[in-house]
Amino acid sequence: MASAIIERVEIDDFCEPPQVAGPGFINFRLKPSFLARCLEAVPGGDDPLAARVGIEPTRDAQTIVIDLSSPNLAKEMHVGHLRSTVIGDCIARVLEFEGHTVHRENHVGDWGTQFGMLVAYLRSVQPEVADKPDDIVIADLESFYVQAKARFDADDDFGRESRDTVVALQRGDPSTRRIWKAFCEESLRHCHAIYDRLGVRLIDRGESFYADLMEEVIRRLEAVKKADGFVRDSEGALCVFPEGFTTRDGLPLPMIVRKSDGGFNYATSDLATILHRVDTLKADRIIYVVGLAQKQHFAMLFSAVRRLGWVDQKVSFEHLGFGNVLAADGRPFKTREGGTAKLGKLLDEAVKRARAVTQDQPADGRPSIRTLSPDQADAVAEAVGLAAVKYFDLAHALQSDYKFDLNTMLAMEGNTAPYMLYAYARIRSIGRKAGVDFAALPSDQAIILEHASEISLAKKLLQLTETLDVVSRELRPNVLTDYLYELARAFSRFYDKKIGVRVVDATPENVRTSRLRLCDLTARTLKLGLHLLGINTVEQM
Ligand code: ARG
Repeated sequence: MASAIIERVEIDDFCEPPQVAGPGFINFRLKPSFLARCLEAVPGGDDPLAARVGIEPTRDAQTIVIDLSSPNLAKEMHVGHLRSTVIGDCIARVLEFEGHTVHRENHVGDWGTQFGMLVAYLRSVQPEVADKPDDIVIADLESFYVQAKARFDADDDFGRESRDTVVALQRGDPSTRRIWKAFCEESLRHCHAIYDRLGVRLIDRGESFYADLMEEVIRRLEAVKKADGFVRDSEGALCVFPEGFTTRDGLPLPMIVRKSDGGFNYATSDLATILHRVDTLKADRIIYVVGLAQKQHFAMLFSAVRRLGWVDQKVSFEHLGFGNVLAADGRPFKTREGGTAKLGKLLDEAVKRARAVTQDQPADGRPSIRTLSPDQADAVAEAVGLAAVKYFDLAHALQSDYKFDLNTMLAMEGNTAPYMLYAYARIRSIGRKAGVDFAALPSDQAIILEHASEISLAKKLLQLTETLDVVSRELRPNVLTDYLYELARAFSRFYDKKIGVRVVDATPENVRTSRLRLCDLTARTLKLGLHLLGINTVEQM
């Protein structure tokens, strides 16, 4: 059968004659001339597709909602929010690059019972906020929360006042709303300082945004409620019972949508959110980047909306769950004092360490950061430090936990950001050394692929499109980090004095130009790939 196939396929434009390789296998080997033609077709110079390394946007663009980051505004962002923010941003970048319309939704928690407590506490410690809520300054959200909670636990009167304040908030009492709003804005300022630093854009649309739609959810559920149906009252609460979910005792597991005291909860707001995303944003695909701990919540939610028939069959829902960030010793991440580690502090630490790493004189004699001005050195350290944290996160399979270990993240060797950034900066310096402006290389000159290291580099370069397809379909950023790492390695074999080829001093001229073009294509591919991970490259390191 294999011989029959080989005789009939017409692939000699791009493939060497296929060979039968044992039972069940046929080997196909791409022709170097075909690889060269593909690379020659990649536009360069100031062509608008140059920075996209020739990749055209998709022809069937979708509207995609990505639910990312979404911290609770009662507290400061901690290490647990890193993953959702970084993974969500990467997925959004890839989907936007492919040409989809992406809504990056920051579904912050701003509507729970804790907000009654915080508003009541704020009123008691800063009584002037009642008149001037915009003047709220909370230097340390975390300790503010801890103090409020301590008072809540110790003082019954304060507990009662807090509960009354939530009710007032949710009923729309103007004074409570004003203070609450100012508190949320203050908390969001803390978050956005981090988003800006990380280069993450998103739209803040917290639980409170859906307050009216939550009423609509209840109206719709009341309309289909039946004593024996899958929407019914149970012990005074209004519940949905999605099929296939049971308690440990085998009883149907409820999703409570209105508590027996009449209050709404997380599930109520998530149901309302779906109405907004489907009916108003017209989403075709909704991706929730939320820790694996919420797996069951999302499974029940998706099952419930399907069963309720609130969404078209063709709308897809995906819970992109991820594992935990652990401390270097493998235990849950805590500060020395036992509190949760604030994200801002960790980023500072990473940048500080990156400065130390990039300042070490490298063993192979390449220039160290000391040749940079102090401002340049700061910028490099900031870029490398943030890149190290992001890259390490994205390079792990989503489902697995990982240890937050700055030493490993900042290693110059291996699948790390410093290695990748250095690989990029090194190629750019080849251009400088050769006195060549990559952007001005003649794009009509042939790419010549003869040496094995050139052929494997060419093949890697041509795999970006399929890599991005996998990332956007399967939502796996580590497929992209793996690809970039392999590309950087293929490049270093190509450029290696012993096993690779000469580049800057290659002769004749057309071979030199071809090799410089391979350098340029590699640099552009690395830059684009890193950009899609949310990482900024540096020209010198
Ligand atoms: N605020 C939630 C938390 O901190 C995450 C929200 C995720 N998004 C959602 N639509 N439920 O756990």
